[in-house]
Amino acid sequence: MAFDRKMKNQTPHIIKEGSDQYKLGELNGNQINYDFEKILIYLDAKGKLLFGNKFKIYKEDRDIIYKLCNYQIKDYQACKKLNIDPKKGILLSGPVGCGKTSLMKLIRHITPYYQSYEMIPTRNVTFAFNHIGYKIIEQYGDNRFYCFDDLGIEPTGRYFGKDCNVMGEVILSRHELFLKYKFKTHGTTNLNAEELEESYGNRVRSRMRELFNLIGFDKSSIDKRK
Ligand SMILES: Nc1ncnc2c1ncn2[C@@H]1O[C@H](COP(=O)(O)OP(=O)(O)OP(=O)(O)O)[C@@H](O)[C@H]1O
Ligand SMILES: [Mg+2]
Repeated sequence: MAFDRKMKNQTPHIIKEGSDQYKLGELNGNQINYDFEKILIYLDAKGKLLFGNKFKIYKEDRDIIYKLCNYQIKDYQACKKLNIDPKKGILLSGPVGCGKTSLMKLIRHITPYYQSYEMIPTRNVTFAFNHIGYKIIEQYGDNRFYCFDDLGIEPTGRYFGKDCNVMGEVILSRHELFLKYKFKTHGTTNLNAEELEESYGNRVRSRMRELFNLIGFDKSSIDKRK
């Protein structure tokens, strides 16, 4: 990955956490040659800081984490091999409790020099809609990056007696922003493609394909809450 030499941070390959330092790779001119094993060491430590000491990198999650890392560091060659479009966002899908929300919260920390995204639970978006109305949909039509957490299972919005598929509308407007300005949108979901279509309809589903790279946990992934 190339980084801007004018950046104030002259050691973007080293991340400091308190008194600890994590070197994620080697600096080579204005490139960082990342080392996946070193990234995993950092993710393990940062995960423990964020989610508690029970957090660990599961062997069976390595393929998914490898994809997310290459996306996050914008390794264009690796992304090509993995069939990931770095311009699109990520939709991380998988069964209940497999660790989607945790991973999306975690992975952004490996590239502190890139614009990050806010994690937004989709339920909060519809609840806010029920109180405030259509303004909420506009609110997400800005230049910030978002990760909408738990797409497809939020309740239908209702404002002044009128039903609204709030997240469907938000995705339509984020899709327009993606086409115009390449603003990023990410998401997590428990649902598969057909179920997402059931929640949002085929217009939204078709745009989601353009908006997101789909990265999926295996159906058999264990529930880490158990
Ligand atoms: N790698 C991990 N090691 C240990 N615990 C983990 C790991 N990943 C997630 N957990 C824990 O498992 C639980 C579920 O994780 P998380 O909420 O990220 O899953 P999820 O896939 O988003 O679930 P849901 O489908 O319900 O939204 C949380 O308590 C979290 O702290
Ligand atoms: Mg979740």
